[in-house]
Amino acid sequence: MQRKTLVISGATRGIGKAIAYQFAKDGVDIAFTYNSNEQIAKDIVIDLEKNYGVKARAYKLNILEPNEYKEVFKLIDEDFERVDYFISNAIISGRSVVGGFAPFMRLKPRGLNNIYTATVLAFVVGSQEAVKRMEKTGGGSIISLSSTGNIVYTQNYSGHANAKASVETMVRYAATELGEKNIRVNAVSGGPIDTDALKAFPNYEEMKKMVANRSPLGRMGEPQDLVGACSFLCSDTSSWLTGQTIVIDGGTSFK
Ligand SMILES: NC(=O)c1ccc[n+]([C@@H]2O[C@H](COP(=O)([O-])OP(=O)(O)OC[C@H]3O[C@@H](n4cnc5c(N)ncnc54)[C@H](OP(=O)(O)O)[C@@H]3O)[C@@H](O)[C@H]2O)c1
Repeated sequence: MQRKTLVISGATRGIGKAIAYQFAKDGVDIAFTYNSNEQIAKDIVIDLEKNYGVKARAYKLNILEPNEYKEVFKLIDEDFERVDYFISNAIISGRSVVGGFAPFMRLKPRGLNNIYTATVLAFVVGSQEAVKRMEKTGGGSIISLSSTGNIVYTQNYSGHANAKASVETMVRYAATELGEKNIRVNAVSGGPIDTDALKAFPNYEEMKKMVANRSPLGRMGEPQDLVGACSFLCSDTSSWLTGQTIVIDGGTSFK
């Protein structure tokens, strides 16, 4: 994977940051996006370049405006010669999910639409731009982060859960149509992972205990737990794997 380029959305924190660091350790150049944390993004660029000897650049992106990806990729073209991997990871939280992150009877179209836009439409536009670059170098690998909230009931989570179910379906369609370009498309679906996104849950502490009880491994997931699947899906060892969702849930979905 050395000297290849990863484009990943939302790598300032949580799962995206863990993925970016692992890929950099493996010698992959990193183009990542941030939304609000510009200074953190700048610090990460310096850290990745200094510690791993790769090229790293950060770009501002709002996934509520998926077409912004077109401008972001033009900037990436100026900084990087190729795009080999694209990981659609960023997720919205806070005010933009009001009416989307709620019990069923309090759901509102606007919040639900925002979550759909940020999850599915951002995946579509980001992947389209990535594909235009990947086909020039003979192929690539695309991953969408997903969540087991679409197979296990999770309080207030129906908006995200439906968007994740939808993005997994989009992954299968993209995989089917992009295979002829030697581009593989998969989803990595995590059980509850201890990040800022989960700390925003009103019942975070209770949920953490519940997840640890449900997992045969006795703990909640950490961002690092999803990294291996992403590395595997981008490497040649998964060369016949496409259109799938790999579930990494610490065994929590069955119990
Ligand atoms: N945490 C879990 O339990 C869990 C489980 C399974 C799957 N996942 C999935 O894994 C992915 C990452 O989740 P996470 O928990 O690591 O999230 P997180 O810690 O909340 O980080 C979110 C990232 O998205 C960026 N972001 C926020 N709002 C944005 C916007 N409007 N436009 C563009 N970027 C924006 C943030 O950038 P700034 O820092 O610059 O704001 C940050 O880098 C998501 O797709 C999530 O659904 C999470």
